[in-house]
Amino acid sequence: SAPALIDRHGRRISYLRLSVTDRCDLRCRYCMAERMTFLPRDRLLSLEEIAIIAERFIARGITKVRLTGGEPLVRRDVTELAHRLGRHLGCGLDELTMTTNATRLADHADALVAAGMRRINVSLDSRDPQTFRHITRHGDVERVLAGIAAARAAGLAIKINMVALKGLNEHEIAPMLDYCGREGFDLTLIETMPMGAIDEDRTDRFLPLTRVFDDLSRRFALTRDARGTGGPARYWRVAPWGIRLGLISPLTANFCDGCNRVRLTTEGMLYLCLGHDESVDLKAALRGGGVGALDAALDAAMTIKPRAHDFRIAAGAAPAVARHMSVTGG
Ligand code: GTP
Ligand code: 5AD
Ligand code: SF4
Repeated sequence: SAPALIDRHGRRISYLRLSVTDRCDLRCRYCMAERMTFLPRDRLLSLEEIAIIAERFIARGITKVRLTGGEPLVRRDVTELAHRLGRHLGCGLDELTMTTNATRLADHADALVAAGMRRINVSLDSRDPQTFRHITRHGDVERVLAGIAAARAAGLAIKINMVALKGLNEHEIAPMLDYCGREGFDLTLIETMPMGAIDEDRTDRFLPLTRVFDDLSRRFALTRDARGTGGPARYWRVAPWGIRLGLISPLTANFCDGCNRVRLTTEGMLYLCLGHDESVDLKAALRGGGVGALDAALDAAMTIKPRAHDFRIAAGAAPAVARHMSVTGG
């Protein structure tokens, strides 16, 4: 069989994040500027091309594929893509999943389950209608909660992603954990990362999760759970519910040594680290030389994957990379 993907730091690459669109129906303040320029549609990979690339990755040892955006459910053919990739579950692929803002989840949850998805991650930074609207600029929290309810009814396990923001949703973190416990959802807290220009200074909103964790451990019974998901979070079990609390702390607890991830943009660029610009052009490889050229590009990619990101939150500093999180789907 085709050789596994191992980078020059000895890390086995097993997790592909597939961004299917850079567009989003929301404009979260820590993620995007109010005015964004999106890719013209003629630059996007076709569904067929995305599938061919993903299938080559699966042949090369990728066991986990996550569909991301922007917001993946704004792309019309995304459930069709999920169906196609879902055929590989149990033969190479262990997990097919998605990260979504859930605004359109009610319409698609059944199709995602039919494609073979078992759990999804939903971004929910606040349950308060005003705060949610303020953070997302356009969002309606009721719609998102309806999306979450539909996903649960369809049989999907749910993990909530919450970016911890000083002065914005800080006071909602403990109530969110309580809510997730009662609902049976896992919760992952995320430190804001300096990617792409936004309209405010991220320094003002940065909340170190070390501090948040100290506070939560006084209020909740937390025990470390070493079992991971193959993602970047460290987990704790939360009694009495048994749900898991995850922390994604790129700024205060670097996890790059265990990195197993690469990211494909909707334009066909493979980014090798969230915090760096190294990339290889898989669209050009595929269109120019087919699967053989694709394999060569993947081998080349393994030689340039950076050892670690270099994120820092410093007042007035430029973002570590110019591209927004939404280009690679996080
Ligand atoms: P699980 O499969 O549930 O572990 O999900 P995940 O954490 O891998 O995926 P998700 O899309 O929910 O990502 C949550 C956050 O983690 C996003 O903000 C991502 O940008 C961030 N993230 C994922 N991988 C990395 C990484 O390699 N480096 C950094 N700095 N952040 C990452
Ligand atoms: N820093 C940290 N997390 C971010 N997300 C989007 N932009 C940023 C950022 N700059 C989060 C979203 C979503 C996940 C995929 O990434 O809230 O949950
Ligand atoms: Fe959209 Fe996600 Fe960025 Fe919010 S964080 S603007 S939901 S891509």
